[in-house]
Amino acid sequence: MTVLVTGGAGFIGANFIYYLLKNRPADRVICLDKLTYAGNLETLAAAEPLPNFKFVRADISNREEVYKIFEEYRPAVVVNFAAESHVDRSIEEPELFLKTNIIGTGILMDAARKFGAERYHQVSTDEVYGDLPLDRPDLFFTEETPIHTSSPYSASKASADLLVSAYIRTYQFPATISRCSNNYGPYHFPEKLIPLMIINALNDKKLPVYGAGANVRDWLYVEDHCAAIDLILRKGKVGEIYNIGGHNERTNLEVVKTILKILGKSEDLIEFVTDRKGHDLRYAIDPTKIKNELGWTPKTKFDDGIKKTVAWYLDNKSWWEKIISGEYKDYYAKMYGNR
Ligand code: NAD
Ligand code: DAU
Repeated sequence: MTVLVTGGAGFIGANFIYYLLKNRPADRVICLDKLTYAGNLETLAAAEPLPNFKFVRADISNREEVYKIFEEYRPAVVVNFAAESHVDRSIEEPELFLKTNIIGTGILMDAARKFGAERYHQVSTDEVYGDLPLDRPDLFFTEETPIHTSSPYSASKASADLLVSAYIRTYQFPATISRCSNNYGPYHFPEKLIPLMIINALNDKKLPVYGAGANVRDWLYVEDHCAAIDLILRKGKVGEIYNIGGHNERTNLEVVKTILKILGKSEDLIEFVTDRKGHDLRYAIDPTKIKNELGWTPKTKFDDGIKKTVAWYLDNKSWWEKIISGEYKDYYAKMYGNR
C-alpha cells in the first residue's frame, strides 16, 4: 500500500513516517513537503536510504505540483500533516495560514478524489474547540464541543475541518479527522514551548514564559499520537472525528520548572514576558471515543515522556544547533541540488 504523508519533514509528520516504516514495513511511504522554515530534511536522513521511502518537495497549495505527484505515485492513503503550525506566527502573518491550511487541504482532497485514493486523513487540533476556563477542571473537549476558534491558526485549521466534512457529505469522500492535544518529543521545532525551553536552559539563556505561566496545555508524547492515527486509518470509521489526548494537563510554569529540574538549572532563568494576544487558557481532551471505539490508550506518561524528550535534545545537539544557526537549510541543496 502506498501512503502519502504530507508535512513529513516537520515534527509530527516525521515521527509518523518513522512509526510507519517501523510498524508497517510492507507500506511504501511517500513524503510530500514544501520544506518551509519548519521542514527539515535532515530529520528524515535515516529514512532516505530505505527502498520503500521517497521524499518529494512540493507545496500542497500548488494544484499542478500536487496532481503531478498523485499521478505518479497513486497513493491509496493520504495523511495530511502539512500546515503552518505556530500560533504566534499566525498572529503576525495570517495569510500564509489560510493558503496552506485551507486552500492546501482543498487541493489535496481534490487530488485524492481525482486519482482515486481510498482514504484521506486530516490531522487537526484541539485548538479548533477554543479554550476552557481555568476554574472548571470538570470540563473537557469532546467531539461534540462546538468549534470556537481564537487565533488565525486555529481558525484556519477549523476551516479545513469544515471543508473535509463538506467533502465527506457532498462527495461521500472517504475521510476521517483527528483532533489532538499538544504533542512533545523528538524533532520538535525549537520555536514551540518545550524544545525552546530545553534549548534555552541548556544555553543558560532566559526562558520566556507568557503572562503568569498559568495557561494549561494537555501534553501527549508524539509516538502516542502516531499510534492513534495509524489505528484510525486501519479501524476508524469513515466520516468520523476522533479526539486524541491522554489527560496530561500541566500549567506552562509547571512544564518549565520540570524541565529546569531535570537539567539541574536554576529557576532564576525564568522570565515572565508579555502575554500572547488572545491566549487560550486551557485545553483538555476527552479521549473516551477513541478509547472505547478503537481501543487506543496512550503509553507514555508526561513525567516519563518529558525525561525522554530532554534526553533526546541532549543526545541530538547537532540537530538543533543546525536549526538555530540556520545551517539545516543547506541540507536540501546538498542532497538534491545536483539531482
Ligand atoms: P511543523 O510545523 O513541525 O511541521 C509542518 C510541516 O509541514 C513542515 O515540514 C513544513 O515544511 C510542511 N509544510 C508547511 N507548509 C506546507 C505546504 N504548503 N506544502 C507542503 N508542506 C508544507 O508542524 P507539527 O507540529 O508537526 O504539526 C503537524 C500537524 O499536526 C499540523 O497540521 C498541526 O496543525 C497538527 N497538530 C499539531 C500539534 C502539535 O502539538 N504540534 C497538535 C495537534 C495537531
Ligand atoms: O493544542 C495543539 C496545538 O499545540 C497545535 O495545534 C499547534 O500546532 C501547536 O503549536 C501547539 O500550540 P500551542 O500554542 O499550545 O503551543 P506553543 O508551544 O506555541 O505554546 C504552548 C504554551 O506555552 C502556550 O500557552 C503559550 C506558551 N508559551 C509558548 C512559547 C513559544 C510561552 O509561555 N512561551 C513561549 O516562548
